[in-house]
Amino acid sequence: MEYSHVPVMWNELRFFLEPVAVKGGVFVDCTLGEGGHSRLMLDEFPGVNIVAFERDPEILKIAQERLSSYGGRITFINANFKTVEDYLSRKMDVHAFLYDFGISSFHFERSGRGFSFRDDEPLDMRLDGESKMSAGDIINHASEMELTEIIADYGQERWAKRIAQFICRARRDTSIKTSRELAELVLRAIPARYHVRNIHPATRVFQALRIAVNDELSAITKSLPAAIGILAPGGRICAISFHSLEDRIVKNEFRRAARGCTCREEQCRCKGVPRISILTKKPVVPGEEEIRNNKRARSARLRVAEKL
Ligand SMILES: C[S@@+](CC[C@H](N)C(=O)[O-])C[C@H]1O[C@@H](n2cnc3c(N)ncnc32)[C@H](O)[C@@H]1O
Repeated sequence: MEYSHVPVMWNELRFFLEPVAVKGGVFVDCTLGEGGHSRLMLDEFPGVNIVAFERDPEILKIAQERLSSYGGRITFINANFKTVEDYLSRKMDVHAFLYDFGISSFHFERSGRGFSFRDDEPLDMRLDGESKMSAGDIINHASEMELTEIIADYGQERWAKRIAQFICRARRDTSIKTSRELAELVLRAIPARYHVRNIHPATRVFQALRIAVNDELSAITKSLPAAIGILAPGGRICAISFHSLEDRIVKNEFRRAARGCTCREEQCRCKGVPRISILTKKPVVPGEEEIRNNKRARSARLRVAEKL
């Protein structure tokens, strides 16, 4: 079988994970996808077992087949990583958490769920049954103000208001059904002189919709502190982000956990102690060669912290 997704930043991840892999124990892959990173970890860290989370049952099946030869070394969990605490505990000797946020190349290229503005597919974008509203529901039923907020907040798109106006005007005649219809609408909404070379004008709108449909950011906010709590002392947490909204959450959650006292009183009353030490003062970025070989890697940012 052909796999669509090329795992990003493996060299950098290996550098941070190798020192903890020698202790064995459990590594948690929170974003299994087609299993690219999990397979590399299983091959290169023979003493490690993996617990893998994936919220999308369709891609999970692909990974399960791909990794079937590793038998009991990998346990698959079809769940959102925001629920890690329901499945894992401090007693499990967890030495690493890996997050590789967002969606897989599989979703863009083969899922048929309208993630890509290049294809003409129904506007769905749901990763699992938990998301009640599809992208089409939002596009066709949200108010102009709600659309503006989604596109501005999750897409950081300066033309959000105008795009929302175009969407609301277009849907008065007939509903917007496919990814291509939406992409063409956005193309018309953003004045041509503001189109950026090599980046489709609809990129940010599609990102915003996907984040809103799957409530992606709150899952990260919920999962990181839980993972830090579960990690064994000396264990490491690696998080790869693909846009500044994800990266900001990781940065802030790491900072919060690395801080000791939070009450700032002369005589500390919160008794807060740092729980992690941040190993990457600035996010680590992929090398030039990786970016040349894998365009998707160009926006990847890796942050790593160690449990104290
Ligand atoms: C970038 S891909 C991971 C690729 C994988 N590391 C590899 O090398 O093949 C992200 C995956 O995480 C899944 N995902 C996204 N948010 C999730 C969440 N909150 N809980 C569990 N899985 C999630 C997506 O469905 C997608 O398959």
